[in-house]
Amino acid sequence: MSKTFDIGLDALTGAAAQSDWSGHPAQASGKSFYIETFGCQMNAHDSEKVAGVLMERGYRSTENAAEASLILFNTCSIREKAAHKVFSRLGDWKFASKDKVIGVLGCVAQQEGEEIFERAPWVSLVCGSASYRKLPELIAEIEAGGRRVTGLDLDTDETFETEITRRDNPFRAYLTIIEGCDYACSYCVVPHTRGPERSRASDAILAEVRRLADAGYTEIQLLGQTVNSYRDPTPRGLNFTALLRAVAEVPGIKRVRFTTSHPNDFQREIVEAIDETPALCEHIHLPVQSGSTRILRAMRRTYTREEYLEKIAWIKAAKRPFSITSDVIVGFPGETEKDFEETLSLLDAAGYDGVFSFKYSPRPNTTAASMPDAISEEEKGRRLAILQERQREIQRARNEALVGSSFEVLVDSHNKARGQWAGRTTGNRTVNFTSPHENLLGEYLQVRVTRAGPNSLVGEHVL
Ligand code: SAH
Ligand code: SF4
Ligand code: F3S
Repeated sequence: MSKTFDIGLDALTGAAAQSDWSGHPAQASGKSFYIETFGCQMNAHDSEKVAGVLMERGYRSTENAAEASLILFNTCSIREKAAHKVFSRLGDWKFASKDKVIGVLGCVAQQEGEEIFERAPWVSLVCGSASYRKLPELIAEIEAGGRRVTGLDLDTDETFETEITRRDNPFRAYLTIIEGCDYACSYCVVPHTRGPERSRASDAILAEVRRLADAGYTEIQLLGQTVNSYRDPTPRGLNFTALLRAVAEVPGIKRVRFTTSHPNDFQREIVEAIDETPALCEHIHLPVQSGSTRILRAMRRTYTREEYLEKIAWIKAAKRPFSITSDVIVGFPGETEKDFEETLSLLDAAGYDGVFSFKYSPRPNTTAASMPDAISEEEKGRRLAILQERQREIQRARNEALVGSSFEVLVDSHNKARGQWAGRTTGNRTVNFTSPHENLLGEYLQVRVTRAGPNSLVGEHVL
C-alpha cells in the first residue's frame, strides 16, 4: 500500500483502512514497485491509478522500498516545505544499486522538469500528471534501459484513465472528474503543475461508478481542483449538479462527496440537489483563503467577502444541517493587521466545522512571489496561531452542541489497542466509538455522541 502525506486535507480523505486490489491480483514476477505519495487527494488517487498501470505491466506492489525495483515519489509543490521534502527523500536513494529505478511524478516533477536530473542524477524518470496517459510507454522505455525519461507536456486535452486502478480504501473510492485548473490565483502553482482544465466524459464516469458499486464500494468522492466547474465534453453536456445527481442514482451508492469547490463556481442548485438527495453528503469544502476583499483581489480569487458569505448563507439556509469547511492563507504579501482581523471575523461569520490554515509560501512562477510587502515568517506564525486558536474555540462550541445526537457513520477504521472504531458522518465528521460487535469495517451504523472536543467526537454504537 502506498504511503500518503496529506497537505492538510487528511480530515477529508480518511485513513485507508486496508488494502484493496479491486479484484485484480498482481501477477507473480520479479518486478516490484514502491510508491510514496505527497499532496492532495488528486495526487493520492493518481497514485492509485499509476499503481494500476504498473500492475497491468506485471509489477507487484511492495511497502518495502529497499526491495522494490522501481521507487516512485508522487510529489506536491503547493508550499515550499512540501517541495523540499521530496529532495530530502530522494537523497536517501543516492547510493541505491544501479538496477533500481527511481522516478519523480506529480507537481514537483512538472515544476522542476529536467532540473531534477541535475540535482539528483540517480533519478531516471520525471513525469507530471498531465502526461500520465503516456506512462506505459515511459515505463517501457525505462525497461529497455532508458535513463532520463521524461513526460512533461502540459498542453494536453486528455485525462488520465486506466483499465485498472488499485484503490487503497475498500469502501470509499476516489474518482477524478476534472483535471487541471483554469484559475490563476496569484499564489498558486497548480495551474502550472497540472495544466488546463479537462473534464472527463460523463458516460465514462458513470460507468466507473457502476463498476465501483458492483465491486462493493458504497461511497464515492468526486475529485477536481475546481470540481464545480465540471462540464461534460460529450453531447449530453451535463453540468456538475446534473452529474452529481446521476452519480447518486447509481444503485448501491450510499454516499457521494466532492472536493474542491471554488466559490466562484459554487451554485445554489448544488445545495438544492443535496437537500433533495439523501445520498449526497451534507458537507461543503469551500475555501475562502482570506476574509479581506482587498487581499482576495490581490490573490485573484474572483469574489468578494460579501459574495462569499452570501454562498455560505445559502448553505446555512438549507434544510439539512450541512457542515462547512475551508482553507485559509495567512500572511499573503501586503496583508495588514486589519485584513487579518477581517479573516478572523469571517471565521465567526461562517461558523466553520473545520479549517485548514497555512502560512503563505512564495512559489516559483506565481505572480504573488514578486509582490512587495512580504510578511515576515515570525509574523505569519503569530497570525496562524491566533487564527487556529479562534477556530478551535468555534469548533469546540459546534462540536459540543452535537453531544447527545445520533449520526449514521460509515465505519472505516479500528484501533484494536484502544478498543475503538472510527467512522464518518455524512457531514464528514469523524466519530470514535465503542461497540460490543465485531467486524464493523464498511458498515453503516448509528452512533450516539457522548463527548466532544474541538477536533473529535466520541460516541457509542446505538444498538
Ligand atoms: N483548488 C483548491 C485549492 C488547492 S490547494 C481551491 O481553489 O480552493 C489547497 C490549499 O493550499 C489552498 O486552498 C490554499 O489554502 C493552500 N495554498 C495554495 N497555495 C499556497 C501557497 N503558495 N502558500 C500557502 N498556502 C497555499
Ligand atoms: Fe490554485 Fe486557485 Fe486553481 Fe485552486 S483555483 S488550484 S487555489 S489556482
Ligand atoms: Fe500539491 Fe499538486 Fe495537489 S501541488 S496540492 S499535489 S495539485
